[in-house]
Amino acid sequence: MPFQIRALNTDSHTADQLCTLLIETVANGESVSFMHPLAPDAAAAFWASSLAAASRGERIVLGAWQDGTLIGTVTLLLDFPPNQPHRAEIAKMMTRLGHRGQGVATALLQEAERMAAQEGRTLLVLDTATDGGAAGLYEKMGYTLAGEIPDFALKPFGGLTGTLLYWKRLGKGV
Ligand SMILES: CC(C)(COP(=O)(O)OP(=O)(O)OC[C@H]1O[C@@H](n2cnc3c(N)ncnc32)[C@H](O)[C@@H]1OP(=O)(O)O)[C@@H](O)C(=O)NCCC(=O)NCCS
Repeated sequence: MPFQIRALNTDSHTADQLCTLLIETVANGESVSFMHPLAPDAAAAFWASSLAAASRGERIVLGAWQDGTLIGTVTLLLDFPPNQPHRAEIAKMMTRLGHRGQGVATALLQEAERMAAQEGRTLLVLDTATDGGAAGLYEKMGYTLAGEIPDFALKPFGGLTGTLLYWKRLGKGV
């Protein structure tokens, strides 16, 4: 079934949907900065802060919608120091469990790259967990592995995982 991608704003339906997606992802044991169980209040506080930053132009939070349900999201971080005006970072890429394997993350990433290029950014960076992260997706999308940092973070149910650092140059035609 088709889905639509758009930049997200602060409204209660969007915030609720983002919280559902984040809590589901963490409960599935996937590394997106939080430990399981993620309390609804903590998830709501995270997204309120993120959407406030988006309203200040410091980031873009993209959502993929299908029939009023948010089935995926990705964040493009734009707020970098004065000596890195050409750089942006991909973060918080998640697809609802029941909607995986249908190209949602690929489409979100393509749109994030298009918006980054539109913002004049020519270098994207990201990191993803060594255990259970999305390295395959990023490599398929042309990201280059810079290296791995071992024991970088705790997984949602405990135990350490490394992180893989990736980069991609954005050229004309992205
Ligand atoms: C990673 C994630 C966003 C992918 O979402 P998705 O919508 O299912 O991705 P797509 O359908 O666009 O998949 C695109 C391709 O990447 C591959 N891929 C997706 N997730 C992958 C993973 N975790 N590892 C390896 N390859 C992966 C798919 O197999 C697919 O390849 P194919 O077209 O050859 O079959 C989803 O698995 C997820 O939410 N994971 C939990 C959160 C997470 O780890 N996010 C990354 C944080 S950096």
